[in-house]
Amino acid sequence: MNKKITIAIDGFSSTGKSTVAKELAKELEYIYVDSGAMYRAVTLFAMQEGFVGTSFFDLGSLLEKLASIQVSFQINTQTSNADMYLNGINVENEIRTLEVSNLVSTVAANSIVRKKLVAIQKEMGKNKGVVMDGRDIGTVVFKDAELKIFMNASADTRAERRYKELKEKGQDVSYEDILKNVVDRDHMDTTRVDSPLVKAEDAIEIDNSNLSRKEQFEMILKLVQDKL
Ligand code: CDP
Repeated sequence: MNKKITIAIDGFSSTGKSTVAKELAKELEYIYVDSGAMYRAVTLFAMQEGFVGTSFFDLGSLLEKLASIQVSFQINTQTSNADMYLNGINVENEIRTLEVSNLVSTVAANSIVRKKLVAIQKEMGKNKGVVMDGRDIGTVVFKDAELKIFMNASADTRAERRYKELKEKGQDVSYEDILKNVVDRDHMDTTRVDSPLVKAEDAIEIDNSNLSRKEQFEMILKLVQDKL
């Protein structure tokens, strides 16, 4: 049997990291962890409690409640994907809205929030055989990952993909708002002090602006096979 490795996929927002990460996990029979879903769930919690909104962020109140926030993944038997649960409630759809996307980078910039979620992520990957995607997986969470990918694509391509995805889910969004969100999050995620989005020195960069889903999958699978 092949040895199990750790695969870290980082990159800018809406670069299709989770699409390829899910495909790889399925092919390799690895665990897939969408670390962004965890930051989104904490953000949703803060929104529900009235701790964060478009013009305010009551960080103190969020931190007071942080220990009581439970985030977990549970397999959805219909889709076979892992859905995000916040304090026992399935919030998979709620965390994907543009409202959450507009606030998540503010919440994710906080070091105490990050410390909590990074600890859970490390635990999930401690036995290897994991594909995790996010912003700091190759630089912070699994610095020793055998394979690190850094995904990129033009902002227009990314916004178009996300626009299509949300429209298909029936969300009422404009392309301009999505593009703004993508650009704003790129800025916030790359300039924050704690765990900014940067390419790990040993990561392989892939620009998938002109790659089909299949081409991208095959390219990364080949990189995995070289490590096994
Ligand atoms: O899927 P999308 O590219 O829209 O983003 P995501 O992976 O769901 O991540 C949402 C946000 O969570 C990012 O914009 C980051 O602010 C934050 N995040 C993070 O700080 N660290 C991670 N490992 C993953 C996500």
